[in-house]
Amino acid sequence: MQIIVLDHPLAHHKLALLRDRRTPVILFRSLTIELGLMLAVEATRNLATEAWEIETPLEKMDGQALTKMDPALVPVLRAGLGLVPSFLKLLPTAKVGHIGMYRDHASLKPVPYYRNFPPMLDARAVYVLDPMLATGGSASEAIQEVKDAGAKDITLVSVIAAPEGIARLEKDHPDLRIVLGAVDRELNKNGYILPGLGDAGDRIFGTI
Ligand code: PRP
Ligand code: URA
Repeated sequence: MQIIVLDHPLAHHKLALLRDRRTPVILFRSLTIELGLMLAVEATRNLATEAWEIETPLEKMDGQALTKMDPALVPVLRAGLGLVPSFLKLLPTAKVGHIGMYRDHASLKPVPYYRNFPPMLDARAVYVLDPMLATGGSASEAIQEVKDAGAKDITLVSVIAAPEGIARLEKDHPDLRIVLGAVDRELNKNGYILPGLGDAGDRIFGTI
């Protein structure tokens, strides 16, 4: 499994603000979008390009264009929606699917409730978006769902991961690429990431 972790002063600064319990919803949302842009730049390094002859005002040259098939973004509801604006800013023609899933508070197991994917996932770079990788149960299930729909070139993008979640994905999906903002210390007994940032969905949507 390929793991890329952001290492940039801007990412460190924005992550510290995002984690701070005093950060209000409005700032939490904009920081998620800003970090999402940095994650999107890293995550899209794998996109294929082809030669594209263009003419500058001075002469012809071979530029590079993204290959024709648009990538697919697949946010995991709810919190994954917070990363969609950043990815669409850089990939304005991307198709967007959705996976609805919540983590049962007692068992910590993911409970799927919705699924909608664009066609031809097998031919697209697929970016599964979910800010928190905790036990890894939700991400593992989401990756399995896009695989079952044909996806082969899959990248998971998360803002914060726990070592337990990374280990789970290494076991379940060794072919996966993961792009992360940070790897934290551990999970607490309720399955929350320490030090983490709390409940990402609640902080993005103001449902605390
Ligand atoms: C959060 C988060 C992930 C999941 C991570 O979602 O957005 O989807 O928990 O936990 P896991 O790695 O242990 O599965 P949550 O279930 O809180 O749903 P929400 O996004 O609707 O708030
Ligand atoms: N989901 C969250 O939103 N935060 C955590 O720390 C763990 C799962």
